[in-house]
Amino acid sequence: MIEFNFKNVLNSVIEENGIEDSAVRSLENELVEARRSLNELRRSGEIGFYDEISNMGMVNDIKAASERFFSKNFNALYVFGMGGSSLGAIFLKEAMSGMLKGQKDGGANIIFSENIDPSYLKNNLDSIDFKKTLFCFVSKSADTIEVVSQFFIVKEILEKTVENYKENLIFITDKKSGFLRQYADENGIAVLDIAKNVGGRYSIVTAGTLFPASVMGLDIEKFLHGSLTYRDNILNKGVFENNPVYTMAAVIYLFYAKKKRNIFVPFVYGDYLREFSRWFRQLFAESLGKDLTSPTPVPAVGATDQHSQLQLYMQGPQDKLIGFFCLKDFGADYSVNSSGFNEFDYLNGKKLSGVLMNELKGVELALAINKRPSFRVTLDKIDEFNLGELSFMCMEAVAVLGMLLKINPFDQPGVEKGKRFAYLLMGRKDDSLSKESEELKRLNAVPDMLY
Ligand code: PA5
Repeated sequence: MIEFNFKNVLNSVIEENGIEDSAVRSLENELVEARRSLNELRRSGEIGFYDEISNMGMVNDIKAASERFFSKNFNALYVFGMGGSSLGAIFLKEAMSGMLKGQKDGGANIIFSENIDPSYLKNNLDSIDFKKTLFCFVSKSADTIEVVSQFFIVKEILEKTVENYKENLIFITDKKSGFLRQYADENGIAVLDIAKNVGGRYSIVTAGTLFPASVMGLDIEKFLHGSLTYRDNILNKGVFENNPVYTMAAVIYLFYAKKKRNIFVPFVYGDYLREFSRWFRQLFAESLGKDLTSPTPVPAVGATDQHSQLQLYMQGPQDKLIGFFCLKDFGADYSVNSSGFNEFDYLNGKKLSGVLMNELKGVELALAINKRPSFRVTLDKIDEFNLGELSFMCMEAVAVLGMLLKINPFDQPGVEKGKRFAYLLMGRKDDSLSKESEELKRLNAVPDMLY
């Protein structure tokens, strides 16, 4: 279960910087319309994350591949993927790492490359046993430059070091098109599909995330069951009928559109939620940042960043809305024994989780006194079911926010331009780059400003 508390956004708490409860209620028509539009996109098959979560065929394919490769041959999985094609799996790996450690038959070692820093890649490649490693290339478009260039590097090493090296490869990609799909079909490489209608940042419910998750030992059915339960709970109710995800979307929208809060801080309390905040940032930024709209997401981790960003959030510009994400149950705990140290009497016997939560509450109170809005989202605990609920809740909130902001939360036209310039600089022969070629000439006419 996910619990929400919006008290600290109200004007009865933070006075003129807050909003009335009725302001949220007044968005009811827009929220209903947002849900209708999303339902329509779902029905017409344009967006797939609502239904991929009940795709048992996909689950069976993932489990079969996981069993085939890891029942005997391999002990490590090296995943290459960018943005949405790796952040979901990195989030689940980190969030679950505490729990997975305790498992008897712990999953395989998983390494990620979500960048093309040659030194990082070399260090990783030097430290693994190629014969025992399955190399997994995840790309929905099947031709992302970072993924493909690393594929060529790995392939060259594999050719020299491993007999039948194609057995050490798996691609997770579009069902029909793109370089990786074609290469796999022509060379008998194992492939798992990503549904056409699920974009990268919504792909936490596809094989792109769930294959690595399954290999690391996660119960992926339990994860999908969490998403499905959340989906059915919210979609079968009115937007304000015990349905706080819509209130969350409305609150973020109102503080951005009416209160000029241009920054949204997902502030997670706990180390195992750090990568969740990076996943959420990408989902939020790439979905919403278009047509000159959207708050900028800036993630933070408590209590760590209380000693880093908090000063700015407390007394800097009044331009932020903070959403705290925390846990009821941390899974493990300590009691602090400070007896005999009078100045720390107040700590004696306290649970460490209690210290952390009191720090969070202290920050919430201080923000409220400084008339700064925040709300809190509490997850019962970290397990597959709860993470399934949390990720679905975030995807729905972002999709609804997209509708409220009147933009398309499912495309990413802005990231194309930089890629096109990179292609041009690397000498790709492509007539469609003529516009960029002209633009480059104009920019190159201005001399560098070097010091
Ligand atoms: O969310 C997105 O759509 C992007 O972040 C993509 O996931 C990222 O660009 C990688 O794309 P692809 O999976 O096509 O390689």
